[in-house]
Amino acid sequence: MLKDQHNRIHDYLRISLTDSCNFRCAYCMPNEEIEVLPHSRLMSTEEIDQIAGIFVDQGIKKIRLTGGEPLVRKEFPEILKKLSRYPTELTMTTNGILVHKHIALMKEVGMRTLNVSLDSLNRNTFYKLTKRDQFDQVWTNILLLLQEGFRIKINAVALNGIIENEILDFVALTKKYPLHVRFIEFMPFAGNHWKVDKVITASQMLEMVKDKFEVVKLRDEPHATAKKYKVPGHEGTFAFITTMSEHFCGDCNRLRITADGKMKNCLFGKEEMDLLGTLRQGKDILPLIKLSVKRKHAILGGQFTSEYQKTKAEEIENRSMIKIGG
Ligand code: GTP
Ligand code: 5AD
Ligand code: SF4
Repeated sequence: MLKDQHNRIHDYLRISLTDSCNFRCAYCMPNEEIEVLPHSRLMSTEEIDQIAGIFVDQGIKKIRLTGGEPLVRKEFPEILKKLSRYPTELTMTTNGILVHKHIALMKEVGMRTLNVSLDSLNRNTFYKLTKRDQFDQVWTNILLLLQEGFRIKINAVALNGIIENEILDFVALTKKYPLHVRFIEFMPFAGNHWKVDKVITASQMLEMVKDKFEVVKLRDEPHATAKKYKVPGHEGTFAFITTMSEHFCGDCNRLRITADGKMKNCLFGKEEMDLLGTLRQGKDILPLIKLSVKRKHAILGGQFTSEYQKTKAEEIENRSMIKIGG
C-alpha cells in the first residue's frame, strides 16, 4: 500500500504517454516550440506495462492516461491493451480530436469514461486558444462518445477574459446533454505566463451561474478534484476544480509518471524520481516509488496565489503542464 506520512493512501496513477500534442494551448505549453522528447527517451510499451504492474501490486486501483495528447502516441492501442489486463479502472484525459479512431478499441478493453478538454464552445475562440481550427471535429467526437455510451467530463480551463462569456453557455449545454462540465482554475506552470489577474475563482464563477440558473450542490466523488453542482432538471452537471482558491490536497490519492519515466508525487512537486533510468539499469524501482511517496508534501496546491503574485512565471521550478500531464 502506498501510504504517505500524512496517512493518505495513493491508489490513483496518472501515466503520461507522450509530451507531444497536436494542439498548442498557451496555458499548457510555453509560447516557443518546446523540444519534444526523442522516442528513445519515452517509456516503451513494455516499460509502461512493467512500471504500471509494480504500481498495481502496490494497490493502484485507477490509471489515467495523459499526455501531451495521449492519442498522438502511435503505440496507444498496444499500451491500452496491455494496461487493460490489470484489475484497475482505466481512463484517459484527451483533447478529443482523435478519439473517433479508437472508440471500438476503448469499448473492447472496457474504457467507459473519458475527460475531454474543451475550453470554448465558440469556433473562433477555440482557434485562438488551441491554434487549431478544429472545434467542429472535437464537438462531433464528444457527441459520438455520448452516443456510444461513454461518460464524458469536459475540462474547461477558466481563463479570465474568455470564460465569462461562455460559462453560462457551458452550463446551458448540460440541459440537453449528460455532460459533466468542470471549470478549472488557471494554474501556474513553467512558461505559461500565469498571473493572478488571469484567474477566475470558483466562487466568482458560481455567482455568475447563480444569477441565471437555480443551482443545487451535489455530493462530491471520493478524492475528487471537482466540487459538483447541478441545475435541477438538467441532464448533466457542472463543477469547479479549485486548486488555486481552495486546495484539495488533504484528500489527495494521486501519483504521476511523466512520459520520460520520472515519478512525481505531486502536480506541483519539484522532486522527481527516475523510475525509467533505474529500470533500464536493471534495478528494482520499488524503493524509489516508496521513497517518493514518503517525501510527499502535505500541501502544495492553493498556497500559490499570494506568493506567485510576486514571482515571475519563468521562475517556476516545475515542468510545463504539457510535460507533466495534468
Ligand atoms: P477524475 O479522475 O475524473 O477526477 O479526473 P481529474 O480531475 O483527476 O483529471 P483530469 O486529467 O481531467 O484533470 C482535470 C484538472 O485537474 C487538470 O487541470 C489537472 O491538472 C487537475 N488535477 C488533476 N489531478 C490533480 C491533483 O492531484 N491536484 C491538483 N491540484 N490538480 C489536479
Ligand atoms: N491550469 C489548469 N488546467 C490546465 N490544464 C492544462 N494546463 C492547465 C493550467 N495551466 C488542463 C487541461 C487538461 C488537463 C489535463 O489539464 O485542460 O484538460
Ligand atoms: Fe495539448 Fe491538452 Fe496541453 Fe492543450 S491542454 S496543449 S490539448 S496537452
